[in-house]
Amino acid sequence: MMKTHTCGELREKDAGTSVQLAGWVNRRRDQGGLIFIDLRDRWGITQAVVDLEAAPEAHAIADSVRNEYVLRIHGTVRIRPEGTANPDLATGDIDIVADQIEILNRSHTPPFYINKDEGALDEALRMRHRYLDLRRETMQQNILLRHRVVKFIRDFLDAEDFIEIETPILFKTTPEGARDFLVPSRLQPGMFYALPQSPQQLKQLLMVGGFERYFQIARCFRDEDLRGDRQPEFTQLDLEMSFVQREDVMRLMEQLATEIVRQVTPQKRLIAQPFPRIRYRDALEQYGTDRPDIRFDLRAVDISEIAGRSAFPVFAANVQAGKKVKCMRVPGLAGTLSGTQLRKVARDLETMARRAGAKGLAYITIPTDPAGELKGPIGKFFSVELKLELLAAMGAQGGDLLLFMSDEAQIVYAVTDALRNHFKAELDLDDDLLAFCWIYDFPEFIWDAEHQRWDPSQHMFTMPLPEDLHLLDSDPGRARGSQYDLVCNGYEVGGGSIRIHDRAIQEKIFPLIGQSMQQAIAEFGHMLEAFEYGAPPHGGMAWGIDRLVMLLAGAPNIREVIAFPKTQGGTDIMAHAPSTAEPEQLRDLHIQLDMPAE
Ligand code: AMO
Ligand code: AMP
Repeated sequence: MMKTHTCGELREKDAGTSVQLAGWVNRRRDQGGLIFIDLRDRWGITQAVVDLEAAPEAHAIADSVRNEYVLRIHGTVRIRPEGTANPDLATGDIDIVADQIEILNRSHTPPFYINKDEGALDEALRMRHRYLDLRRETMQQNILLRHRVVKFIRDFLDAEDFIEIETPILFKTTPEGARDFLVPSRLQPGMFYALPQSPQQLKQLLMVGGFERYFQIARCFRDEDLRGDRQPEFTQLDLEMSFVQREDVMRLMEQLATEIVRQVTPQKRLIAQPFPRIRYRDALEQYGTDRPDIRFDLRAVDISEIAGRSAFPVFAANVQAGKKVKCMRVPGLAGTLSGTQLRKVARDLETMARRAGAKGLAYITIPTDPAGELKGPIGKFFSVELKLELLAAMGAQGGDLLLFMSDEAQIVYAVTDALRNHFKAELDLDDDLLAFCWIYDFPEFIWDAEHQRWDPSQHMFTMPLPEDLHLLDSDPGRARGSQYDLVCNGYEVGGGSIRIHDRAIQEKIFPLIGQSMQQAIAEFGHMLEAFEYGAPPHGGMAWGIDRLVMLLAGAPNIREVIAFPKTQGGTDIMAHAPSTAEPEQLRDLHIQLDMPAE
């Protein structure tokens, strides 16, 4: 080994030891006769001192080194002279009196600082030199955390008798609602593999194969538009169990989530245990989304009954027409603002609501003086009695702002979600709080108006709830699926369900989602066939590892916890992928390009 110790391990007790360290120059300070080099490796930073008189050769070399040079330094550990200890450094009580320095490699001046967090670094520049970016402390910590999370998951599941099984990457369409990445086959001209969007089918077939408890840290591929929490290739903890019900899977998964937080990131605090369970419908009604951030409690409350009796024509008419009126209470906001400020805030919020499709956003302010008037454009439409009912229903207090939404359900959801996101940004929530919750009782299908068909709310293999099975024939839109999603701080971290293991039920799904039986057999015939050879009841779940680690790291997006992510445009700007293919490669694959005109 080129080093006897790491740059993070030497302490006072090592004084007098002769050591050899190797790493990168984090910083060099020249004080004439003395040169100080902070040498950095994965484990930390150790300061070396080179004295011109005691070690003239080493001093000459130290004189020539620059940041990020790779060095091997030989020397003796010494307790730092009185008053020069560095409490910010784990090794700050000692330094190395260097007698030999060898330059193992040189470095250009890096295009950005590696030895300090500069705040907003240009991400394109970071990606272009990702190997340098990875040297930064934050990235080192994030990647290390990712390793520890995955290691913990493997150990936990191994102890629960799961086995890790690899499934193919070159496979057939395994749809999860995105586009497939296709890979042309040379040996079967004109044919294509599809990269799996998840190992869904394969893990179900492993259950038919009798493994009972499977997991995999699985790479998945989805050709979809990218966002901060989406990459074209990403990693799942994929897992499946036989002879289980929804409750069994949820319980084990909740235990896993809890243990990861407790043991891998003990500085994080779980807001609620057991994790709250929220019905899909309630999540939409209260939070406007099926992945609510429940670290804060703003929610929409249905006040249709009260508003319908008000004199505000819009509300009265909407309630008459069966639409709802919902109210969101923003505690204390009105009390802190002047009249002009309040009107501006209300205008901005209304603009936001209109952007989400609403026709307006009425508001009322509750006076801090109990004898005062309710203010706001619709205050006058509520009688004194009605006002009291409204305040009681909302639990309103002096200084609160009440916001009113009334429209089609989908629009009210969108406005609720937009308002919550707006206030969330203002609340400056603590990233060390982790608010997990389960969302369950999803509909089995969601109506796709464009294609005039049902889309699976999760995927086509989700078992409807037993009590809703009969609805597949009569009223599929009302059938609930056995799906459960794990949500944390507003992100969908994972999802799963109990699966269909019965050919007859599976065959009912295809026509509903607009697939002919012929098509279904061509694509999924192997599944249908497998179900006829003793497929056990089974269910499971998949977690987005990238999202989980992002939340545990407190990172702003998943690119921060992936060693080599793609940019928003789906490219790797370091290695220039994707790139063109050689004509010969295309010929071998019998592929001719037909590019659109510029
Ligand atoms: P689902 O499609 O919900 O379920 O995926 C599971 C989890 O994977 C993560 N995820 C992503 N992460 C990063 N980039 C993406 N493009 C991306 N897409 C999804 C999310 C999500 O919750 N086979 C089913 C699971 C099952 O039923 O067992 C599935 O893949 O965190
Ligand atoms: P108007 O009487 O149209 O001026 O509206 C009075 C107030 O009600 C304004 O603040 C509007 O933004 C609001 N408003 C109008 N329509 C709706 C609606 N459908 N839902 C919520 N607020 C509305």
